[in-house]
Amino acid sequence: MDDRHETGAGCEAGFKIVTREDFSDVTFLLEIEHPLMAKAARPGQFVIVILHDHGERIPLTIADFDRRRGIVTLVIQAVGKSTREIQQTCHVGARLMSVTGPMGEPTDLGDVRKVVLVGGGLGVAPIFPQARAYKENGAYVIGVVGFRTRELVFWEDKFGACCDELIICSDDGSIGIKGLVTDGIAQAIRKHGDIDRLVAIDPPIMMKAAAEATRPHGIETVVSLNPIMVDGTGMCGGCRVKIGDRMKFACVDGPDFDGHEVDFDDLMNRLKRYRTEEKLAFEKWSEACRQKLPDGAIGATGAIGAGGAAGES
Ligand code: FAD
Ligand code: FES
Ligand code: MG
Repeated sequence: MDDRHETGAGCEAGFKIVTREDFSDVTFLLEIEHPLMAKAARPGQFVIVILHDHGERIPLTIADFDRRRGIVTLVIQAVGKSTREIQQTCHVGARLMSVTGPMGEPTDLGDVRKVVLVGGGLGVAPIFPQARAYKENGAYVIGVVGFRTRELVFWEDKFGACCDELIICSDDGSIGIKGLVTDGIAQAIRKHGDIDRLVAIDPPIMMKAAAEATRPHGIETVVSLNPIMVDGTGMCGGCRVKIGDRMKFACVDGPDFDGHEVDFDDLMNRLKRYRTEEKLAFEKWSEACRQKLPDGAIGATGAIGAGGAAGES
């Protein structure tokens, strides 16, 4: 699908932001007007976004799509230069220069009758379209979502509508069960002896923990991997992941893989490879923002997310 677009009246280039909702200081939702993408999108797929003509390519999961309104939804966590720049500049009426996709293999729903869907950190929103798709396919859906604290919870209503059971986990116990999503997984496994599949979209360390939690029970476990991606079309090799004794490209072979086969340590090491450059890019951009601001105004503040893509919601 083309990634440049002439939109309606005025024929301005780019993709218009029609809704923005901030869930926390770092997590926000954008609804983008993109009828062709909304029509083509399937659960589990992602887009590559470029903010402006000097922007880098960043992969973002299609967190929702509405074919009737011609809208795709992205939920973004501001962790570094590009996501913070989007956070700072993308308000209703602004445009993203390029939104390419849908990319990646759509989720294979199979004939799963009972599924546990686990989302934490960046994964809470991306797990939603899968939860809805499994529900529409007739499965019994158990959602397990993790947040730091009650104030950061979002989409409880949306998950409630498509989950037969919803287990919310919070670090401080202010909502749901006190603990990590792995505690929610343990609760689901204790209660249900007939789970066919568990799907986890989480920071890699949590997906690894989820895979270890299901391994002794022989529950099929699907994880959605988030390695560094550039082109998203299988050309650059940046998103190489080790799955058992095979090498795969997450952008075209995934992003979903068998969690019991993934080499998570390799994935986590590769995600750290450009930390120096990412930090420099953030500092340079912050400095440029500060120079543009009048005295006393607050601009691009805050330290770069230590966890990067593994940050918290
Ligand atoms: P940087 O400071 O440049 O990077 C921070 C950390 O993010 C890095 O250390 C690295 O671990 C990771 N990262 C950096 N560049 C990339 C890249 N090109 N591709 C992947 N990871 C990168 N984030 C969301 O907030 N919402 C989503 O829905 C979402 N979906 C994703 C789906 C896929 C398939 C993948 C691969 C990643 C997804 N991410 C998502 C992660 C998001 O792409 C990164 O957080 C973002 O690129 C960071 O850019 P930055 O310039 O702000 O931060
Ligand atoms: Fe380049 Fe996957 S992002 S090969
Ligand atoms: Mg970056």
